[in-house]
Amino acid sequence: MNQTDASKRRLTVIITGAASGIGAQTAQLLAAQGASIIALDRVAPDFPVQHFVPIDLMHAESIDTAVAEIPAGIDALCNVAGVPGTLGADRVAKVNYLGLRYLTENLVPKITRNGAIVNVASTAGQGWPQRLPQHLELARVNGFQQGLDWIERNPVSDALAYPYFKEALIVWTMHRAATLRSQTGIRMNCVSPGPTDTPILNDFRVSLGHASVDDAIRRAGGVGRPEDIAPVIAFLTAPASAWIVGANLMADGGLVASRLLDMEVAVQPAAGK
Ligand SMILES: NC(=O)c1ccc[n+]([C@@H]2O[C@H](COP(=O)([O-])OP(=O)(O)OC[C@H]3O[C@@H](n4cnc5c(N)ncnc54)[C@H](O)[C@@H]3O)[C@@H](O)[C@H]2O)c1
Repeated sequence: MNQTDASKRRLTVIITGAASGIGAQTAQLLAAQGASIIALDRVAPDFPVQHFVPIDLMHAESIDTAVAEIPAGIDALCNVAGVPGTLGADRVAKVNYLGLRYLTENLVPKITRNGAIVNVASTAGQGWPQRLPQHLELARVNGFQQGLDWIERNPVSDALAYPYFKEALIVWTMHRAATLRSQTGIRMNCVSPGPTDTPILNDFRVSLGHASVDDAIRRAGGVGRPEDIAPVIAFLTAPASAWIVGANLMADGGLVASRLLDMEVAVQPAAGK
């Protein structure tokens, strides 16, 4: 199918976490662009979607049931659902990493050639290079239960869980993207939002600490909105991003750049502009 034919066909996009925050915004944006939306969440969205499939990413059986309900011919999968560290390491590991991975692997056969997968990570996962060997070891462990067994042998504290499993997600995305592309033609990438105005932002103040969140907001020049993140996710599902594979795209107001250079950035319009 050439690009003109593809652009005429209505695309079908699965969005996890579609009931709230960034996932809800992404669903509404892609719907406005003409996509048919399959929303996967524990709770139903309060806006219209073509299909709602209940899922609890904590449990492999719930994921199996949801996957069985989804038809083939999916053009894009946006893995947006996530929980904060305040809910504990077990839930964070399962929802933000193991369940996401298990859902993705089981949906791959239903995603069209040249389809796209977008995983929502976080700027909190910026520290992945420091723990690369561990994250790569976990990335090479296939399966929900096998991953859980690995985590039981390599436990992570509640305090570290959120950044740790966002790091792990970024590394798994890089690791799996190459084989996925060569085996199936599907592109997989991450988006890493900075602090964004959604219901879980307050939990980050508790789990990551006020100082860390305030520092992030200061460096980013404010708090992002779901409207700032959704177009970046949408871009990574679109043919315009065809040459982007295994990337981790920041949507963070410059937070990571600032931290990397350890610069004090005062976000103000340049003089004379
Ligand atoms: N808000 C931020 O500041 C921020 C920053 C960086 C990254 N993120 C990431 O963005 C993503 C979206 O978060 P958000 O800010 O929109 O939060 P949100 O709380 O508004 O949305 C999270 C969604 O995930 C769903 N969910 C939670 N547990 C689930 C489970 N077990 N099974 C299925 N669905 C489940 C919730 O029902 C909800 O609809 C998350 O992965 C989060 O880690 C958020």
